[in-house]
Amino acid sequence: MKDIYPLLIAGAIIGVFSIIFALAYIFVKDKKEAFGFTRNMKDKDLIRRLMKYARPYAGNFIIIFVLMLVSIAYDVISPLMVGGIEDLIKDDFELSRLMTMVAVYAGILVISLVSTYAQSIILQKTGQKIVSGIREELYSHIESLSHGQLNRIPVGTLVTRVTNDANAISMMFTRVIVNLTKSVFVVIGVLAAMFLLNYELTLMVLCFVPFIAYFTVIFRKFSRRAYRRVKDCTTGINIFLSENLSGMKITQIFNRADRKMEEFSDRNAKLKKARMEEIFVFGVFRPMVYMLYITSILFLFYLGGRGYLEGFSFMGKTVTGMVIVAFYMYINKFFDPIQTLAEQFNTLQSALASAEKIFTILDIEPDVKDAPDAIELDTIKGDIEFEDVWFSYVPDEWVLKGVSFKVRANDTVAFVGATGSGKTTILSLICRNYDAQKGRILIDGIDIKKIKISSLRKHFGQMLQDVYLFAGTIRSNITLRDDKTDEEIMEACRFVNADKFIEKLSAGLDEEVRERSNNFSAGQRQLLSFARMIIHKPEVMILDEATANIDTETEALIQNSLEKMMNAGTMLIVAHRLSTIQHADNIIVLSHGEIAEQGNHFELLEKKGKYYGLYMLQYEKQRLTSAV
Ligand SMILES: Nc1ncnc2c1ncn2[C@@H]1O[C@H](COP(=O)(O)OP(=O)(O)OP(=O)(O)O)[C@@H](O)[C@H]1O
Ligand SMILES: [Mg+2]
Repeated sequence: MKDIYPLLIAGAIIGVFSIIFALAYIFVKDKKEAFGFTRNMKDKDLIRRLMKYARPYAGNFIIIFVLMLVSIAYDVISPLMVGGIEDLIKDDFELSRLMTMVAVYAGILVISLVSTYAQSIILQKTGQKIVSGIREELYSHIESLSHGQLNRIPVGTLVTRVTNDANAISMMFTRVIVNLTKSVFVVIGVLAAMFLLNYELTLMVLCFVPFIAYFTVIFRKFSRRAYRRVKDCTTGINIFLSENLSGMKITQIFNRADRKMEEFSDRNAKLKKARMEEIFVFGVFRPMVYMLYITSILFLFYLGGRGYLEGFSFMGKTVTGMVIVAFYMYINKFFDPIQTLAEQFNTLQSALASAEKIFTILDIEPDVKDAPDAIELDTIKGDIEFEDVWFSYVPDEWVLKGVSFKVRANDTVAFVGATGSGKTTILSLICRNYDAQKGRILIDGIDIKKIKISSLRKHFGQMLQDVYLFAGTIRSNITLRDDKTDEEIMEACRFVNADKFIEKLSAGLDEEVRERSNNFSAGQRQLLSFARMIIHKPEVMILDEATANIDTETEALIQNSLEKMMNAGTMLIVAHRLSTIQHADNIIVLSHGEIAEQGNHFELLEKKGKYYGLYMLQYEKQRLTSAV
């Protein structure tokens, strides 16, 4: 009896831990959904969709698979060889035999290492190709979305999809799939070898499998919970950062730094706690598996040792020193992949969650897209007509209510009206940044929905209300990467009066534009965006004048270049300074999404209506400022 005490003690310890875990499992609550959001797509469908991306590389995967089998061979054969050393000393010891064995062992080891190396290189390359394909598809899909759709998805989310989520998928191809397959094969191979060596000892090892399964199930629950918390807290910090880094200047101006710091510390502490929980879960699980491993070794030495000493045999197979050595190595190789399998589960789940998020974006059908029979327009004259156009950003909240007007080719039409009256909205409908819900917009008598979007936009130059410059150089911002000579660029700059300030810069056209273009003044930014528009020689120019305050000198430059542009083609312009548009052929006054009045400057002044009111206000203001 005494001699089985160690086994009983080991069994009791495992039993106590099992009970503690069972209680923890029952009493710790966890949300059902996997990673902080409800999954809608089935794992099976996700995997099928992901496989579509892997299919072109099927050949590579077959090579990887074959290389994997070669490297597994080492795991299965090496214990047998080490165990075989016993035979060497049985009879007369011959050094040459030992040397041959060492050479063969080293050979197998080298082959296995080389194939593992080749396998991971091919795998990483293939994985990166697949994921860069997914990233490109995603980016080009995002480009096809309409302004409305883009407004609805936060930029931070899109960035995460293209970077983090794509990486999670890459992890799945490069790590999870291979590790899972490899682990399964190693377990099968090792089990088969053990069965061939000794039936009884193998059954003993198998007795530990239910415990491993049990611990794994419990581990999965806790690790999933910890993992989700880490992810939620990380997202929380990311959102906080993206919002507050952009608004840092406001925080400083209003002296809110301490308060923001408190908020940040709070989120940071939460992330730390979540990370600690994750580390704790792994910290418990790994030693548990190790404990099972050690116990099985203990059992091996006990049963194997007794069998060896007492000449114990089972199904005709005696326990020899070689069997014990080989089993000692096999048990290690058996537990290792099982632990990997359990731990890879999270990576797999998170990759699937990422895949679902990416597919959700890919599944958004662009709401402004080419009709199947859309036509190309090679040249246009520039006649534009709005026919009873109704538009709303939010269902049933009409921003434009039955707007109709005509613009003749080469005319200049100006839109004025209070803030929020719908001026910018009208301009964005012409280039199909959005589609109107009711009514028609015609270019040269053709409904714009029947024209290919790219072909339509080719003829328009748009200058948006909030001028946006990309990080890069002045040159790249004006040409937008089109091939243009310096002469062409400078000609455009001269036309819009941007040449003078560019010539003063030390690097000229190659002057760096920093992120958010804060090294240029508001007026300079406008002049640059005029140049960007003019260089592409559009037939129709659409200008949404920025409301930003501009110094008098730059304002005169802008005024002058606007006058030149008005003569260059059809122009639709939103102007906040009425002086800008006095020479417009038609001025449309908007009020709450409807046209209140229209006519040229003098006709409207005579009417003494809304335009007259606006004009008098600005006139009065100007008189007051010049008096100061
Ligand atoms: N993306 C959007 N989503 C929802 N509502 C919007 C959106 N853009 C504008 N609106 C709403 O549509 C209305 C018209 O906006 P629009 O930008 O056309 O005004 P605007 O005349 O250009 O004003 P401003 O002179 O201030 O530039 C406003 O009430 C605004 O709140
Ligand atoms: Mg506007």
